[in-house]
Amino acid sequence: MSNPTHPPAVGVLDQGPEPTFPPGFLWGAATAAYQIEGAAAEGGRAPSIWDTFSHTEGRVVGGHTGDVACDHYHRMPDDVRLMAELGLKSYRFSVSWPRVQPGGSGVANQEGLDFYRRLVDELLANGIEPWLTLYHWDLPQPLEDLGGWPVRDTAARFADYASLVADAVGDRVKYWTTLNEPWCSAFLGYGSGAHAPGRSNGADAVRAGHHLMLGHGLAVQALRAALPQAQLGVTVNLYPVTPASDAPADVDAARRIDGLANRFFLDPMLRGSYPEDLVADLAEVTDFGHVRDGDLEIISTPLDLVGINYYSRHVVAAPVPGEEPEKYWRAPSCWPGSEDVRFVTRGVPVTDMDWEIDAPGLVETLRRVHEEYTDLPLYVTENGSAFVDTVQDGQVDDVDRLAYFDAHLRASHEAIAAGVPLRGYFAWSLMDNFEWAWGYTKRFGMVWIDYDTQVRIPKSSARWYAEVIRRNGLAAQ
Ligand code: FCB
Repeated sequence: MSNPTHPPAVGVLDQGPEPTFPPGFLWGAATAAYQIEGAAAEGGRAPSIWDTFSHTEGRVVGGHTGDVACDHYHRMPDDVRLMAELGLKSYRFSVSWPRVQPGGSGVANQEGLDFYRRLVDELLANGIEPWLTLYHWDLPQPLEDLGGWPVRDTAARFADYASLVADAVGDRVKYWTTLNEPWCSAFLGYGSGAHAPGRSNGADAVRAGHHLMLGHGLAVQALRAALPQAQLGVTVNLYPVTPASDAPADVDAARRIDGLANRFFLDPMLRGSYPEDLVADLAEVTDFGHVRDGDLEIISTPLDLVGINYYSRHVVAAPVPGEEPEKYWRAPSCWPGSEDVRFVTRGVPVTDMDWEIDAPGLVETLRRVHEEYTDLPLYVTENGSAFVDTVQDGQVDDVDRLAYFDAHLRASHEAIAAGVPLRGYFAWSLMDNFEWAWGYTKRFGMVWIDYDTQVRIPKSSARWYAEVIRRNGLAAQ
């Protein structure tokens, strides 16, 4: 590939009306296996927790499932051709664990691995750098039946699975990320229950978070041994957390939520310890007895890069006695021990997810990780927005999504100018897809999917992004 792994740092960036990115900046788009592949019962694939969850009444809007999704499993070569037409330099996809190791342990399913071998070959043949995520939330159901992520053994199973994938495509994939957004797996999966496997127990959520990170550390060690040339990292979803006022109680609420949302993962993986205030906040929930000697050394195994997913900001306030706290994500325990903190809306423009649009928050997030945690190269591994789209005369003119991307790319550029070693950006998402508990009702794609016919239509944002990639920068505002 022509992209150097780490492009040379540029001293002064052009901050003029037409911001240009450093040479070799890795322009990409992202997807995840369960959200696009379909073919849920083909090629030897077995159910994951998301199959079980989506087939359980009342869990996903409209009873939608990932059974067919974008049918990418069958349309992969055409989809890669579309990526090439858009000029993507990289494509971030996830491997479906239950497709390549249906039982969650033991032998690999070669037919499943073959799909990813073909995908990687197709990408490389089109000059597109594969960026592989090992875990985007689809735990094999047999492992959940044994207790899932709250159980320690799941971490070891994950490292075994990582080795199977490394054996299959390690010679051709340079960029590897272990987990996608462990906060969601732990706190939405086992805390609020809004995501699969739909369990609601604060202590289990905290244990799940720990074992996800342990699995990450073990997988990094296994990959490092097998693939000394690979670039290894993890993807976390981060939010700036702002107090609604200067009142000490609001400031403390922000500290607590920042602990649970951001520092719970950043500190163990990048510093090798849990934050003391977080451990104290969680005292009523867990005594952290699940943390064994040596775990934090494994969890903080050195990385080559950090992936950051950024969507929005949290503004929070202290509880008001007698007032119901806002029910975030439809159930309170995704913030164990801090369930009474209020999430405040500011009245600024929101996306179709009701997430506030806050591009300066991306600058803040990138600077924080760089200035407080690490000198490692950073990548925005997801950023994007859902809006209601309409097809008119065969076109989808998604001006709001385009503006969202534009604002966040200007923010990315600003972060680079401030000294952040940001090396790439992945738009979420390449195409409309199964948006988890929202099913197909939320569209994040740069490419429209007609779910009846599987016709793909690049939206205005896709055409615009192709031009951004071509010029390696943005037009004047
Ligand atoms: C992120 C997920 C991704 C997608 C976007 C909208 O949290 O990683 O799969 O759902 O949100």
